[in-house]
Amino acid sequence: MNESIKAVHLAHTDGELSDVSAFGSGATARAVTFHRSLPVYEPTPLADLKCLAAGLGLGRIAVKDESKRFGLNAFKGLGTSYSVARYLAQYLDLPESEMTYETLQKPEYRERLRGVTLVTATDGNHGRGIAWAAKLFGLFAHVFMPKGSSPERLANIRGLGAEAAFTNYNYDDAVRYAAQMAKEKGWVLIQDTAFEGYTEIPLRIMQGYTTLAHEAMEQYDDMPTHIFLQAGVGSLPAAITGYFATHYGEKRPVITIVEPNRADCIYRTAAASDGERHIVTGEINSIMAGLSCGEPSPIAWEILKDYADHFVSVPEWVAAKGMRILGNPLDDDPRVVSGESGAVTTGLVAELMQNRSLDYLRDRIGLNKDSRILCISTEGDTDRTNYRRVVWDGLYPSY
Ligand SMILES: Cc1ncc(COP(=O)(O)O)c(C=O)c1O
Repeated sequence: MNESIKAVHLAHTDGELSDVSAFGSGATARAVTFHRSLPVYEPTPLADLKCLAAGLGLGRIAVKDESKRFGLNAFKGLGTSYSVARYLAQYLDLPESEMTYETLQKPEYRERLRGVTLVTATDGNHGRGIAWAAKLFGLFAHVFMPKGSSPERLANIRGLGAEAAFTNYNYDDAVRYAAQMAKEKGWVLIQDTAFEGYTEIPLRIMQGYTTLAHEAMEQYDDMPTHIFLQAGVGSLPAAITGYFATHYGEKRPVITIVEPNRADCIYRTAAASDGERHIVTGEINSIMAGLSCGEPSPIAWEILKDYADHFVSVPEWVAAKGMRILGNPLDDDPRVVSGESGAVTTGLVAELMQNRSLDYLRDRIGLNKDSRILCISTEGDTDRTNYRRVVWDGLYPSY
């Protein structure tokens, strides 16, 4: 495969923009209030990498460390807990104001919820979030994983009490399989991507992610000029983009979406500019397991196409470079243990500032000594074996 850094820019000059009010202050406040009601809730740290910024010739680079989220080593619990709670509140006919962890623990409600079974498909992180949310509320959960998924991630899901198994499918077919099982068995599909006739739960998951943006803005204490967001199906970056678009309008930061070459469905869709979604089929073998999705979520793409500025597709080594940088900080900078999908955005920022052959892209994105950057390390070392192969043994050297 010819792997290289490829980019496309979308200018948002004409036409009607998609509605992002679902990520406005009301929705964010509901998500934040719910998450704060969880006994394990704590904002994740924002690592200010001052020496790295100075070394790269940037004003600031801060990385939100989602390895610290709910003890799950990834951000996904934000979406699973919020969407499951919303579903359960609806099931119990509870008003939204009563949708708190405490209310949902009342014995009479726990008893009524015993018949609810969740199902999902996952590369690992979302499934771990589902298993954890099921445990929080006393539900059963079935989790199906794509062919080639990490045994360590499977074990982590099983460790939380869910039924989990590998399938022979890629991610997108595993999603179809989980949806079919939901239909056949009467289980509740909690999936982090949308498809025809299935949008409400993925939207709730995305709204759950707005807590992350809200925390980041409280901690950043200034307006970033640039945000770099990694994409699988696009739900995470679209939720964060939607948050910034609705809260800050034209004053929002420049938003760059990053994907692996091997699963760059959103980049391809943006590059084609024919209004169609472009998919990547077959087996996807990127180390960025969380980003190894071949089909953009339609509700995510609607937002990204109107509000995200740059779409970049990168080789595997860019993620490995980010993992090594974040795991081996300069001078007094804090260390961030960042996994493959978590580190790719930092890897790209460093490469843009160091590689002269990418000057054109650095200038197009507008990075310079005054830039204030926000990246999200969306996971820690969720596959510790691979983490060490990259960080200790030098797997995927740069270039
Ligand atoms: C660690 C990590 N980062 C980023 C993503 C991308 O999220 P999305 O698929 O919503 O674009 C995922 C998705 O599984 C993930 O696990």
